[in-house]
Amino acid sequence: GGSIPFHGLHQAGIATPVQERLHFASFDLGTRSPAEAAGLMKAWTAAAVRMTAAEEIGRGATGRALAPPDDTGETLEMHASRLTLTVGFGPSFFTRLNLPAPDRLRELPPFRGDRLDPARSGGDVCVQACADDPQVAVHAVRNLARIAAGKASLRWSQIGFGRTASTTPEEKTPRNLMGFKDGTNNIAMDDRSKLNRHVWVGEEGPGWMEGGSYLVTRRIRMHLDIWDRTPLKQQEDVIGRYKRTGAPYGGTREFDPVRIHALPPASHVRLAHPDSNGGSRILRRGYSYTDGTDGQGRLDAGLFFIAYQRDPEEGFVKLQRSLSARDSLNAFIQHVGSGIWACPGGVRPGSFWGEALF
Ligand code: HEM
Repeated sequence: GGSIPFHGLHQAGIATPVQERLHFASFDLGTRSPAEAAGLMKAWTAAAVRMTAAEEIGRGATGRALAPPDDTGETLEMHASRLTLTVGFGPSFFTRLNLPAPDRLRELPPFRGDRLDPARSGGDVCVQACADDPQVAVHAVRNLARIAAGKASLRWSQIGFGRTASTTPEEKTPRNLMGFKDGTNNIAMDDRSKLNRHVWVGEEGPGWMEGGSYLVTRRIRMHLDIWDRTPLKQQEDVIGRYKRTGAPYGGTREFDPVRIHALPPASHVRLAHPDSNGGSRILRRGYSYTDGTDGQGRLDAGLFFIAYQRDPEEGFVKLQRSLSARDSLNAFIQHVGSGIWACPGGVRPGSFWGEALF
């Protein structure tokens, strides 16, 4: 596939049609100096500009005999595969560098049923790498980690496949590992008015966040062994939609409107729908994951949930408070990792990630 412009009003990878593969990475800084952190962002941006255009980093992957190559080389002769790299800063980034954090960037509150692993949660800086080829996404994260040596180190990372969001109405909605179409009722990436209202930060600022967005990530494990023994009718009652067609209860086609009163009271879609949450909406962009087995004969698999919003309190936090208290899906899932990130506005040519905040 082709390349997606790195520069723009907004960072690529948010309202960009969802690519097939994900490599998400969280880094911890090894410095307390804003100047050093800015230097890292500058070096990362230069590499990102090259990689998203399918160009070799720096002086390239080969050619100099007496030094390690500037690029590790595993994507030589490959296409850009629609690679996007999106950066966000966690609350600890601002504490560590002693910089003022945006008011809306607060640590997420604990939710009922959480079983968060600190080793899979938080971090100072995140990079969301999405591409249609897994090697391209992995190469990008690997090389950013290499460039960060001595200034930041990987805290955790997550590989994802099988996007669970369609961000354009023309795309066929993919299915999650529970076998249900996931992403039907999402904000379409060309719906400017909904994006401006619910996703992009506006005049409320801070200035460097204008055109940016707040990102919430959750590693949600699915108890697929239990799910797979659950009768079809009960699975559909849990979601509030039919498995084959994706139609909501009370409708016959996937995109028929959700009338919340036609859905079971504790069904996931009823509880997550804007009509149950004072109009709250988020942009979902998650991926499925499987990370081997858990040593007890079960897959370690689930959904790496990714949501962008203008205000986390009005978006994820509001929804998850309601879902964690009542959702009948809770019997089949567990939140095991978490992160919240401030993703600055888009990068102009000649500038770098977060330049205006340092
Ligand atoms: C809708 C699955 C977690 C928010 C849906 C749909 C499915 C689904 C199958 C219906 C299709 C669609 O409209 O996209 C899951 C699974 C989850 C999960 C399997 C966990 C493993 C979450 C979480 C949130 C959330 C944590 C937010 C806190 C939503 C929203 C909708 C939705 C906002 C659209 C509701 C509407 O407007 O009709 N989800 N979901 N989901 N989900 Fe989830």
